[in-house]
Amino acid sequence: MSRVLVTGGTGYIGSHTVVELQNAGFDVVIVDNLSNSNIDVLDGIERITGKRPPFEQTDCNDKEAMESVFVRYPDICAVIHFAASKAVGESVEQPLKYYRNNIGSLLTLLELMKAHKVENIVFSSSCTVYGQPDILPVTEEAPIKPALSPYGNTKQINEEIIRDAAYADKTLHAILRRYFNPIGAHPTAYIGELPNGVPQNLLPFITQTAAGIRKELKVFGNDYNTPDGSCIRDYINVVDLAKAHVVAVKRMLDRKADTQVEVFNLGTGRGLSVLELLNTFMKVTGVNVPYQITGRREGDIEKVWANPDKANNVLGWKAVETVEDTLASAWKWQQHLMEK
Ligand code: UD1
Repeated sequence: MSRVLVTGGTGYIGSHTVVELQNAGFDVVIVDNLSNSNIDVLDGIERITGKRPPFEQTDCNDKEAMESVFVRYPDICAVIHFAASKAVGESVEQPLKYYRNNIGSLLTLLELMKAHKVENIVFSSSCTVYGQPDILPVTEEAPIKPALSPYGNTKQINEEIIRDAAYADKTLHAILRRYFNPIGAHPTAYIGELPNGVPQNLLPFITQTAAGIRKELKVFGNDYNTPDGSCIRDYINVVDLAKAHVVAVKRMLDRKADTQVEVFNLGTGRGLSVLELLNTFMKVTGVNVPYQITGRREGDIEKVWANPDKANNVLGWKAVETVEDTLASAWKWQQHLMEK
């Protein structure tokens, strides 16, 4: 069986993807520097799948160490590149860290893939590349807008690097995934999202407030041009998202695409406002979440949700989990964390 190198494999989306890859019969090897994840994640993956994935604590920017991974695992047939810094605010304060981490690691990987004749890469991009789209739901054909943060810029630059590399090297195949807002946890609650410090993203902030760890949620703005005034996003279940990566790897290994580089939105097609998500969470869990409306957060997009038709039709993949089950899984995970 073929082996998939998963960078950032102990992270949030990475760990859920490793589970789905192993469940589908793939061997994996995880590379992660544990800068924003925990080694215990391997226990969770093993508990769910019955198999402990091989793990290399390595920084993707460390070319020598990465080279040794490719040498020791000669059966790697595809790379899924999750490893990246992803805090938008931090990227504004420390842009060089973001360019070094997020651009450097991709360059290292592509160089090593070429040297070791690994021809397939799945890359984690973001709907942030669309900025505020003119037409909603947004399709893959929508124009790329100037990035609002160094983080967003690294995603755009990385997409371009992959396109240029594929143009120059006809053996390279890539699938770019533009994620919308992944939320939730594995239904077993053995793995989930583990934010470092104060969560920046909405759902972990909600679950921590529900758990009493945070005093109250701040809803960033209720004066947007949306039905209830709060921002709208496309929240997608993380297990649904993980499954889309298995489909992508199989598609590349079977050479089903007629172009070298394909791009897919990964979303549900359904937009939910911050207040709708919050109210649904309270309804599903029966737990009150204190909140107050505050001013807008700098750099926020007003509304964005996906047109997922291309992924649905071309990949035969669809997000199937309900938002209610997804929110319940996030709450179960938060409770699991508190029992630890
Ligand atoms: C952001 C990035 C996205 C990136 C993702 C990675 C932007 C425009 N988007 O997504 O590119 O891939 O983070 O983590 O920067 N909210 C609150 N209170 C909170 C937290 C969030 O009201 O305490 C609101 C935000 O204003 C937003 C929504 O919740 O409307 C979702 O926010 P968040 O979870 O941070 O994700 P994005 O900003 O959509």
